[in-house]
Amino acid sequence: MRQGQGIEPSGRAGAPRTHTRYRAAAMLAAGALILGACTGGGSDGSSGADASAGGGEAEGYPDAQITVVVPFAAGGPTDTVTRLIAEPMAAELGVEIVVQNVEGAGGTVAAEQVANAEPDGYTVLMHHIGMSTAPTLYPDLPYDPTEDFEPIGLVTEVPMTIIGSPNFEPNTMEELLAYVEENIDEVTYANAGIGAASQLCGLLFETATGLDLTEVPYDGTGPALDDLLGDQVDFMCDQTTNTAENIQSEAVKAYAVTTPERIEALPDLPTTEEGGIGDVAVTVWHGLYVPGGAPQEIVDALNSALLVALQDENVISSLADLGTAPVEQDRATPDAHAEHLQSQIELWRPIIEEAGVTAG
Ligand code: MLT
Repeated sequence: MRQGQGIEPSGRAGAPRTHTRYRAAAMLAAGALILGACTGGGSDGSSGADASAGGGEAEGYPDAQITVVVPFAAGGPTDTVTRLIAEPMAAELGVEIVVQNVEGAGGTVAAEQVANAEPDGYTVLMHHIGMSTAPTLYPDLPYDPTEDFEPIGLVTEVPMTIIGSPNFEPNTMEELLAYVEENIDEVTYANAGIGAASQLCGLLFETATGLDLTEVPYDGTGPALDDLLGDQVDFMCDQTTNTAENIQSEAVKAYAVTTPERIEALPDLPTTEEGGIGDVAVTVWHGLYVPGGAPQEIVDALNSALLVALQDENVISSLADLGTAPVEQDRATPDAHAEHLQSQIELWRPIIEEAGVTAG
């Protein structure tokens, strides 16, 4: 893996930005309060004025605004999923929810921030598969994903797609593999930093092809996709929650989806197996967490609201449009989430070690 030279991730050269419905909404809503049914919804219908309430005490939880921390930039796939479920969760809990984007180091900056936050249920983390790869990628990781957090429940598992910029030469996976090999020093691959899903997919692509990509890191695949749409970077691997609409509108070149079978939202997009790199197989699971030590009542209250949100019609139809779905209810429990996290840490450790990739 090589770092890209001469491309400033934030250097957007006035490229046309084709924002999709969900991304545009997310960008607009960035930081905005997601109103819950303050009057009479959820707990005791209190005004929610006192943000410092709680302190581990579960009594009357929640009675203040909740912050959900997203480890990547606004408008990206993790942000999109978070904003979709936050609305029905806020309504169920009867308080306001605000989404705070804390970017950096492939998601580990945000996770560390939440690990050190008050375990009072007012600071929640949305994170993904990166929670399970970080312990191997970051030898000095300042938190333990299995000790310093209480899992609330899994949310969704999102397929990834390998896509290219509109004017990138290759049109098929076969052409992409040949072109990247022939132009390995020129071709650039965008990702959201070490620990990101887009970095993990890149690592699997390198392992499957033996190619050493020039990687250009961003604070999230939201801004990376903007630069790809503007031909500032050549290709990337990203979640359908960020790419589906640009693939459907043919705003980008699309090479493959990383699932064993083609997906309903993108029926014409071959799988990586069909493209001859079947080992590039990954879906991006997402889950919610609170700081370790949070009372069980708080975990239960958040989990109940999550279970309701995952059955919400708008959530189900929106995720379907974006190539995914909520997880089954029996997988959205704190225990199932904890088990999945542990099994994923064990799954990715040897693969990452084999690739010899670590941060720093
Ligand atoms: C994002 O929301 O930007 C992505 O989840 C980043 C990634 O993990 O590739």
